[in-house]
Amino acid sequence: MSLLVGLFDSGLGGLTVLRQVHALYPHSPCLYLGDTARVPYGQRTTEDIRAIAAEVVHWMRLQGVGVMVMACNTSNALALDVAVSEAGVPVVGLIDSTASELNSDHVGVLATPATAASGAYRRAIQACRPSARVVEVGCPAFVPHIEAGQLEAPALRRAARDYLEPLLAAHVDTVVLGCTHYPLLRPLLAELLPPDVELVNPAVAAAQRLGPLLASLGDSPEVDLGGDPAAPPLERTRFCVTGPAEDFAAAATTWLGSRPTVRTVSLQSQVRAF
Ligand code: DGL
Repeated sequence: MSLLVGLFDSGLGGLTVLRQVHALYPHSPCLYLGDTARVPYGQRTTEDIRAIAAEVVHWMRLQGVGVMVMACNTSNALALDVAVSEAGVPVVGLIDSTASELNSDHVGVLATPATAASGAYRRAIQACRPSARVVEVGCPAFVPHIEAGQLEAPALRRAARDYLEPLLAAHVDTVVLGCTHYPLLRPLLAELLPPDVELVNPAVAAAQRLGPLLASLGDSPEVDLGGDPAAPPLERTRFCVTGPAEDFAAAATTWLGSRPTVRTVSLQSQVRAF
């Protein structure tokens, strides 16, 4: 038995965070919630994003998670305080974890419109590095294409060109993939950017922060998922969604390399899902 790690996102994007967690802590059981009934988050109002975060985190707490990793930048940017107060367990953020690791004064951030408008990345980066110039660009077309599995769509490529323009004009040398869906666009973005521009996936820094926390929380309440501790990480991860389970399972197969078992849950339910 180990501590249950909770991760949530609006949909598939948080799987890029889950992948990093699995890579570093293959023995940690995880609970992943994709709030697919409400994807995308990034075009919603701040009020909506905060209300949704409160509901999701409350549900996660009910499931017995021992630590949470924000697997959604939009929630992290606009509702980290909500998550922290609702979780009752430590919460690892993507934005702070990444800001402290950056080593550049010319940073671009690609994010959802809500994250970009919040200025959360700029504030966090400049708090660590006041000399940094940070250009944040909202990319409304990305998440719908990614959720639909349309990674080759000409409209996606055109949108990417447009979104990268201000970053190229500002001569950034580092681009933060400030939405957990965007690591899936790495090949396209790398093709459109000069070869010396570094693409940063915030999931890497967040997953690294989780290690010392897991160690320090060793004696916190543990959850028995009934799984074999020697099973591969994917088999010890529970996948829940608020929309159709089969759609998510099919789409997630490409991301995870094998088809997960997915359950549709109601976040209003006060009963444990498993
Ligand atoms: N993947 C999420 C993020 O990191 C949310 C994307 C969306 O639903 O708009 O911001």
